Amino acid sequence: MMSEVNNIEVISDQLGDQKLSKEVNNDVNGDEDKVDPWNVCSNSATGVDYDKLIVRFGCSKLTDDILQRMETLTNQRVHHFLRRKIFFSHRDLHVILKRYEEKQPFFLYTGRGPSSSALHLGHLIPFIFTKWLQETFNVPLVIQMTDDEKYLWKGLSIDEIKKATKENIKDIIAMGFDVNKTFIFSDLSFIGKCPAFYENIIKVQRSVTFNQVKGIFGFGDSDCIGKIGFPAIQAAPSFSSSFPFIFKEKKDIPVLIPCAIDQDPYFRMTRDVAPKLSKPKPALIHSTFLPALTGAQTKMSASDPNNSIFLTDSANQIKNKINRYAFSGGGATIDEHRANGGNCDIDIAFQYLKFFLEDDNRLEQYRTDYSSGQLLTGDLKKELIGIIQKIVSQHQENRKKVTDEMVDQFMALRNLNF
Ligand code: TRP
Repeated sequence: MMSEVNNIEVISDQLGDQKLSKEVNNDVNGDEDKVDPWNVCSNSATGVDYDKLIVRFGCSKLTDDILQRMETLTNQRVHHFLRRKIFFSHRDLHVILKRYEEKQPFFLYTGRGPSSSALHLGHLIPFIFTKWLQETFNVPLVIQMTDDEKYLWKGLSIDEIKKATKENIKDIIAMGFDVNKTFIFSDLSFIGKCPAFYENIIKVQRSVTFNQVKGIFGFGDSDCIGKIGFPAIQAAPSFSSSFPFIFKEKKDIPVLIPCAIDQDPYFRMTRDVAPKLSKPKPALIHSTFLPALTGAQTKMSASDPNNSIFLTDSANQIKNKINRYAFSGGGATIDEHRANGGNCDIDIAFQYLKFFLEDDNRLEQYRTDYSSGQLLTGDLKKELIGIIQKIVSQHQENRKKVTDEMVDQFMALRNLNF
C-alpha cells in the first residue's frame, strides 16, 4: 500500500501545476476547488464539492452507519453538525469508537491560528463541535494556539501575535470548555516549558523530507525555512507523549482531531510519520466551511468585514450584514420566486440555518417552503438574524466573564481529570 504522503505526491503530480498555484495564482484552475491550509475557493455557487475532496484527499465519508454506531455507544443523538454532515469526513474514527467501547482512553486535540483578535462565526464551528465531543465522551482536550505559524505567515510582529493569542484564548474559554479537562497552550511559550514537546517536534522533522512537505503543502524555494519546519509543530500535539504532565508514562494514547478539512494536509503528514516513530496515527473528523455571506465560493474570512459576522458585532450590525450581503437563492422578483421557488443549495441564509438552527423539523419546513416559493428570502433572513443575534450576544456575555486568571488556569501545565 502507498503511504498517505506518497499517495498525495502522486495525486498532486496528477494535478500538475495545481500544487504550485498557491504562489503563482490564487484563482481556481478549471473546475478544481482549491482547499489547503491557506486558501479555500471554488467556482461553484454551491461551494466546494466535498465528495470530490474526499476522493482527492483519500479520507473516508462519514456514513450513516458510523453515526448510528456513535448513537448506540453514547446512548444519545449525535450533534446536528453530524446529522447534517457539516462534519462530513474522517480518518479512522472507528478506531476511536472501538476504544471508547472498550473503555480505553483517548484524547482530543484541536487548535487555532491567532492571526487576528477578531473571531467570526466560522471560527466557532470546530470549537462548538469539540466541546460536544468532550462532553459526550468525557475526555481530555488539548488546544494548540499556533502563534508561531501566524508569525511566519502573516508578517505581524511578535507582540501583535501575542495579543491576538490572548484575545482568542478568551473567546475559546467563553465557549464553555471544562477547565479540569482542557489544556490550552501557545507554541511560543509552551516549547520552552516542555522538552517532551520539542523532542516530538524534532522527531517529526527528522522523518519528513523537504521533498515531502513540498508535495503536501506546495512550499517553494522562496518560502522561509520556518514555514518548512512548521508542519512538525502542528503534528507533535497528536502524540500523548508531548504532554507528560497530563498523560504521565502513557505515551501511546491515541488522539481524535476535530478540524476543518483544510487542516488535513498537516495530519496526513502526521499519520505518515507516526508508525516510523512507533506512535499511534491520529484519527480525524473533518468539517466543511461556513460559507462567506456573499456566497459559498469562499469561506467566511476575518479579512473581509462585509463577508463575515464577527463575535463582536452588535445586534444591528448582524441584522444589516445579513440583510444586505447574504447571497439569496431566491427569484429575482417576488412573482418569479412564488412561481419557481428558491434554491436552498446556494442560499446563504438557508445554509447558515443548517449550521445554527438546531430543530430538524423546523429546518425541513424552511427547506420545503422556501423551495416551493411560499417563503421569501426575507423570511429566512429574519429567522436567521434572530438566531445569530442570540448566539453572538450570549457569547459576548460569556466573554465578559473570562478573566486573566482563567486564562492562566487553562494554560497551566497540570494534570487533567482523566
Ligand atoms: N493551523 C490552524 C489554523 O491556522 C491551527 C491549528 C493548530 C489546528 N493545530 C490544530 C486546527 C489542530 C485544527 C486542529 O487555524
